[in-house]
Amino acid sequence: MLKGKVAIVTGGSGGIGAAIALELGKEGAKVVIDYHSHLDSAEMVQKKITGLGSECFAIQADVSKPADLQKLVDGAVQKFGRLDILVNNAGVETRTSILDTSEAQYDKVLEVNLKSAFFGTQIAAKQMIKQGGGGRIINITSVHEDWPMPGNTAYCLSKGGMRMLTRTAGVELAKHQILVVALGPGAVATPINLTTMKNPALMKELEAAIPLGRMATSEEIAGVAAFLAGPKASYISATTVFVDGGIMHQSPGL
Ligand code: BGC
Repeated sequence: MLKGKVAIVTGGSGGIGAAIALELGKEGAKVVIDYHSHLDSAEMVQKKITGLGSECFAIQADVSKPADLQKLVDGAVQKFGRLDILVNNAGVETRTSILDTSEAQYDKVLEVNLKSAFFGTQIAAKQMIKQGGGGRIINITSVHEDWPMPGNTAYCLSKGGMRMLTRTAGVELAKHQILVVALGPGAVATPINLTTMKNPALMKELEAAIPLGRMATSEEIAGVAAFLAGPKASYISATTVFVDGGIMHQSPGL
């Protein structure tokens, strides 16, 4: 379904990003991923994608720096000739409340999650406009783009920002046939949730809060990302698709 397409997945060397990179590769896309410091993880993803018969390469980048995002886009264009899909996936959280978040923690979360998505969108869109034919930008947000997570304040506000980035950029870029969509996962079994996953009592509590009764796998998120990047999602833009097992709407019905 994505044969001939070229995709960049930020944070593509681990967690949900690696699963998305792999899924896009499976569908035939050529994929560029970045890594911050773990070349070995990026190489593992790269190997898996080339093993599927597609192409992938990794570029060292700090996605909170627009110059490095430009490096990713230039790398994709130099190697594969164009850019069709950008997945703004890189994300971090501090699990700190408004009362105990330091300025450094705030800056890191806002820069890695929101600033990278903003400038990634800007730089990718310029390339897509230049080459013509439209494009897809997928912002991996969270149920917490809209739903408070007390004790994770900076994260919530970065995701809320990405929600509005999706809506506003989606409207602005529509005339270029660039579709901008947010994909909002609930709880997913990835390293970001390791502390919860290692704590049986917390896991029980979390699973009880999810109508489907379990966390998602990265692959369940990646499948939706590939759909949103593909031809069947040609009329979805400036909105969010939640993939959360119903967690935002769980209700005891009392
Ligand atoms: C957060 C996780 C949290 C999940 C469900 C995700 O966006 O990264 O820490 O468990 O949302 O609340």
